Amino acid sequence: MAKRRSVSPVYSMCVQPSFLIGTNNEDGTPNFAPITWVSVTQAQGDGYMLVISMFGTKKTKENVTRTGIFSANLVSTDMLPLMDYFGSRHAKDGKKDGMAYTVSRGEVLDVPVLDESRWVYECEVERSIRTGNSTTFFCPVRNIQIDERLECKDTFDVDLTKLDPVIYSGKYHSLGKLLGSIGDFL
Ligand SMILES: Cc1cc2nc3c(=O)[nH]c(=O)nc-3n(C[C@H](O)[C@H](O)[C@H](O)COP(=O)(O)O)c2cc1C
Repeated sequence: MAKRRSVSPVYSMCVQPSFLIGTNNEDGTPNFAPITWVSVTQAQGDGYMLVISMFGTKKTKENVTRTGIFSANLVSTDMLPLMDYFGSRHAKDGKKDGMAYTVSRGEVLDVPVLDESRWVYECEVERSIRTGNSTTFFCPVRNIQIDERLECKDTFDVDLTKLDPVIYSGKYHSLGKLLGSIGDFL
């Protein structure tokens, strides 16, 4: 049994996936920023919605609110320098062109997509909810682009070790081993 102690509820430990959110600026140029408050829920009918939360004011939030569309590019460990760079720059201070990266367009939505990413969601905002200084967007997934080397038989058959995602919880982490499937431990 773990011996625990109570601490102040200021801590928000949450094991977060790392995504670089690609949005269109007013002049059509792309902008990317890390957002890790990302989860999923069910959409109307089939499919999933990305649930993504942004606090304060930032270009990414403005762009998502204005255009209603964005890409969510999963960050693998080899993309960590890029994520760190995009996260330490604010678009309002100028273009984030201090690092090399290449951009394509979405296949279904007109959103900027990072060529390096192995798993990309193209999303459209359906509704949003404000809490405090944050806005949470509920966004049906209109398309998913996955690395051609990935084989997924069904929604439960995604080998995260092949995606090698950056896990965030205040610090950057990587993933451990693949442990098994549902039912393997009964
Ligand atoms: C690892 C990491 C995770 C972040 N997660 C979030 C998040 O979930 N929500 C948010 O609003 N900002 C988040 N940020 C902050 C934005 O990425 C940061 O403010 C960025 O500079 C905004 O860029 P922009 O001006 O291009 O929108 C995160 C930053 C880092 C480095």
